[in-house]
Amino acid sequence: MLTDSPGTLLAEGRRRLSEAPFEPSTREAALLLGRVLELSEAQVMARSAEPVPAELAVRYRALLERRLTGEPIAYILGEREFYGRPFRVDSRVLIPRPETEHLIEAALELSLPERPAILEIGAGSGCLAVTLALEIARSTVVATDMVPGALAVAAANVHAHSVEHRVRLVAADLAGALELTAFDLVISNPPYIDPSESAQLSIEVTDFEPAQALFAPDQGTAILERLTSELSGLRPGTPILLEIGYDQEDRITQLADKANLTLQEVRKDLAGHPRVALLFSR
Ligand SMILES: C[S@@+](CC[C@H](N)C(=O)[O-])C[C@H]1O[C@@H](n2cnc3c(N)ncnc32)[C@H](O)[C@@H]1O
Repeated sequence: MLTDSPGTLLAEGRRRLSEAPFEPSTREAALLLGRVLELSEAQVMARSAEPVPAELAVRYRALLERRLTGEPIAYILGEREFYGRPFRVDSRVLIPRPETEHLIEAALELSLPERPAILEIGAGSGCLAVTLALEIARSTVVATDMVPGALAVAAANVHAHSVEHRVRLVAADLAGALELTAFDLVISNPPYIDPSESAQLSIEVTDFEPAQALFAPDQGTAILERLTSELSGLRPGTPILLEIGYDQEDRITQLADKANLTLQEVRKDLAGHPRVALLFSR
C-alpha cells in the first residue's frame, strides 16, 4: 500500500473541496491537515513529501468529511480570528464576521469617559466584549446573552484573553434587569436576518450556525425594535452602536424615531452595504 504524504493528502483534499457545492476555499485542505499534523500551513507545504502515519491520514480524512457536509471550518478548527485575536467558537455561537469589526472601529472613534462602562447585548462568542475590554484600556464591559451555551463560550474567551476582571457576563433577555443609566456606551450585533431569506443563505450558515443568533421575526427587525425601545432608558447623550442588515437603513431610521433616539449616521461595510448605525439617546 502506498504511504500518504502531505502532498498527496493536500491534492486529495483540494480536489474534493473544489467539488463541494458551497464553494469552500481549497486552502482549507492545508488548514485541516495542519491541524492533524500540528503544523502551520507553511510547514505542511514545506514537508509535502514526508510520509504521514496512517492514523493521522484517517483523522485528516474525517475532518475533510465534516467540512464536506458544510460544517464551517471555524467550528472544525474551534477558532476564528476577530480584530486580530483568536476566539474559540463552536456550534453554540455565531462565527464572528469581518463586518462586525466595523462596530469596534466605530466605538474606538467615540469620545468616551476615561473609564467607560460598556454594555453589549448578545455576546455570542464574546468577541466584541473582549475586544472592547482589550482596546479600551480602562473600560469595563457587561455582556448579556440569553443562550447559556453562548455564555459558556464567551466565558472561555474572556478567560483565554485574561479579561475576567473587566468583563462580566450576564444571562438576560436583551438588557434584562440591568440599570441602563450606568452605561456610557451600548453596542450590539443582534439577530437581524429575515427568516424568509434563509433559502438564499449557504447551508454552512443555515444548517450549522444557531438560528437564535441569526434570525428575527418581522423581516429581521423584531429584536432591533425591542432593543431600541429598551435603550431609550439610557442617560441622555449615550452612544449606541448597532449592526444592521444590508437593507435595514430605512427601518432603523423609523425605529430610532419611534424610540426617541437620534440616528446620527449609518456606516457602510467594505461591500458598500449599510452596516453600523450610530445612535444617541435623547
Ligand atoms: C448575531 S449574534 C452576535 C454574537 C457576537 N456578539 C458577534 O458579534 O459575533 C447575536 C447573539 O444574540 C443572542 N441573542 C438573541 N436574542 C437575544 C435576546 N433576546 N437577549 C439576549 N441575547 C440574545 C444570540 O444568542 C447570539 O449570541
